[in-house]
Amino acid sequence: MSDIVSIGSGDFALSLRLPELGMPEILSFGQAAATVDPLFNVDRSSRVNGMDIAVPSAVLLPTGGMGFFGWPAIAGHRRGRDFVAQFGGWRVERDNDHTMLSAADPVARLSLSITLKAHASGLISMATTLTNDGDEDYQLDRCMAATFLAPAGAVEVMSFTGMWGREFQTRRELLGNGIWSQESRRGRTSHDRFPMLFVEGAGQRFGVTLGFSGNHQIVIDRTDDGQRLIHLGELFEPGEMILAPGARYESPVAYAAPDSASFQAFVRDELLTWPNGSMSPRPVTLNTWEGNYFDHQMESLKAQATAAAELGIERFVLDDGWFGRRDDDTTSLGDWDIDPRKYPDGLKPLVDHVTGLGMQFGIWFEPEMVNPVSELYKAHPDWALTIEGRPILQSRTQLVLDLTRPEVSDYLFSKVDAVLANHAVSYIKWDMNRDLTHAGGRDGKAKFAAQTRAVYALMDRVRAAHPSVEIESCASGGGRIDYGVLARTHRVWTSDCTDALERLEIQRGASRFVPPEILGSHISASPNHQTGRRHTLAFRALVAMAYHLGVELNPLELTGDERDELKVYVETYKRLRGLLHAPGANFQMEPIDGRYVWGAASADKIVLIVAQGPQMVGEQPAPLKLPAAIAGFGGQWTITNVLPVTPEFIRISEGQTRLLSGAVAFNLESAGVVGLPLPMLRPESAMLLELIPSKGGNTHG
Ligand code: GLA
Repeated sequence: MSDIVSIGSGDFALSLRLPELGMPEILSFGQAAATVDPLFNVDRSSRVNGMDIAVPSAVLLPTGGMGFFGWPAIAGHRRGRDFVAQFGGWRVERDNDHTMLSAADPVARLSLSITLKAHASGLISMATTLTNDGDEDYQLDRCMAATFLAPAGAVEVMSFTGMWGREFQTRRELLGNGIWSQESRRGRTSHDRFPMLFVEGAGQRFGVTLGFSGNHQIVIDRTDDGQRLIHLGELFEPGEMILAPGARYESPVAYAAPDSASFQAFVRDELLTWPNGSMSPRPVTLNTWEGNYFDHQMESLKAQATAAAELGIERFVLDDGWFGRRDDDTTSLGDWDIDPRKYPDGLKPLVDHVTGLGMQFGIWFEPEMVNPVSELYKAHPDWALTIEGRPILQSRTQLVLDLTRPEVSDYLFSKVDAVLANHAVSYIKWDMNRDLTHAGGRDGKAKFAAQTRAVYALMDRVRAAHPSVEIESCASGGGRIDYGVLARTHRVWTSDCTDALERLEIQRGASRFVPPEILGSHISASPNHQTGRRHTLAFRALVAMAYHLGVELNPLELTGDERDELKVYVETYKRLRGLLHAPGANFQMEPIDGRYVWGAASADKIVLIVAQGPQMVGEQPAPLKLPAAIAGFGGQWTITNVLPVTPEFIRISEGQTRLLSGAVAFNLESAGVVGLPLPMLRPESAMLLELIPSKGGNTHG
């Protein structure tokens, strides 16, 4: 007797067989299989000397011990006993797109449910719940959220690494015979081990990600028949997850999708929850950080807000430095009272000034942290996560508060709430600037898992109390970008590095999972504060343009010409953001010879941003072949607008000059096959092209 369960349809589906005893066997993943097929019933055999009954190795969440010799996705014990789990008696409950598979292990006295969902955007998600049905504690060492199947043979993994200021660096490698494993123990999503990757092999390609902002792991194991199981889940510290009788563990949700477009559609359509039910046009933001750091001067900030409004900026975000005695990063985290030295009449005069200019007001918090030099720490040194008897390790001279203690979370909520309730705040930049190290609670036990859930609970509480406020997730730049936090926030600060050259790779990597309008991208000063590089305003602006545009410099320091130029970019962004951020319109191309191309397209407008990173190696750039989906709009088109007015070309021919001036109407399908013969840009420069269908243009150039 076997039961076949299918999740999803078309090109991205999962077929499972539920056995009487053991884990659901993955019959197919990718192209949907028929729901009934004689092939399903053909027994497989293994080598002589193997198990007498062939044990399927491509299964969801394998448990170890009973003939499965691979990496167990669920493991635990009861003081050494019950170290083997074997579930059976599967039940299936279906509710629209949700499927719940439940099973029990009467020997180890555990029960398990796996929730699977086929999403309209093409994703398949999976999560697990494990319950201790026994009458003694069960120590859960591991319980992964999901298992997906990759093919046998040569398989390439594309993963993302980096560090502070250099997130989302793409790495490609071929899987070998052993286990591929990525573990993150920083207590936040991290800059170096993003819980997301793509795999490609045997004509199949898909991505996976774990929606979680704490410790996590991804393991790719090779099965006995050469296929690969991709497991995603939370990573526990020793003894961290002890389930009392009747208690259960709920995993985060893991996702798989055939491509970036599906991931982006999912984030847009299902994950993000907007204050008014749908996303408003993404406002151009002025963030005060790089233009002021901790030096908050009320009159200057007001003048900067006025200058920002004149530039067309729509949101003013007051960054770090407004509370306690925060003159540098050594003090005051935790003391969330407005600094009376900097704001003798409180924040209200500044907020009123900003909102009076028609701009939204946003404010920075880093709720999870405390500086040892602070009133809060003086009063409650025991509120920090530490281990008694161990040295206190500081990072950015701060410690992490134990949010699992209700009095700590209540205190933080009351502080954030007081600022929000008394001012017209429509936006929070929620920062988190250190890794968790020895995160022990008062009982001396690890608190990583509980802390991550407590942070989510605090975010949820703030949102419930202030439903019209949007939240940005920041963690020293892009250290907390994942689908767990995005379920409760509306923007991510992609990176603390605002250097446009570095941003080319960072934004390209992040865009594989997050749509551009959610990725904060700011035009900052030149020379750049992180790298010292000098870039034209055009390059800085165009690299930021397609994302959620911001400005992070002191506008009072701009020359008149710079202000005029910046105004043009702000206006252009506002004019084009409807298209740049339209569901399904945006695209990214693979860079060739340091040339990056991205943009958005509809049947009546194409925006192409072309940026040259390092100098080209080739003598000529290859013709720019538009993606097939865009070329498929067909018809005659012309270039109608080029920004900057004079892009920095190494050399330009007469024909190219005519093409860029709009004198040449071309067939869009040819632009996909033959390509646009664009001139070579100087390194670290960019141009934006607007293309529109032409009305009877000159097709012969
Ligand atoms: C972090 C953030 C920055 C800024 C500073 C303030 O580094 O990523 O954008 O807010 O903190 O201290």
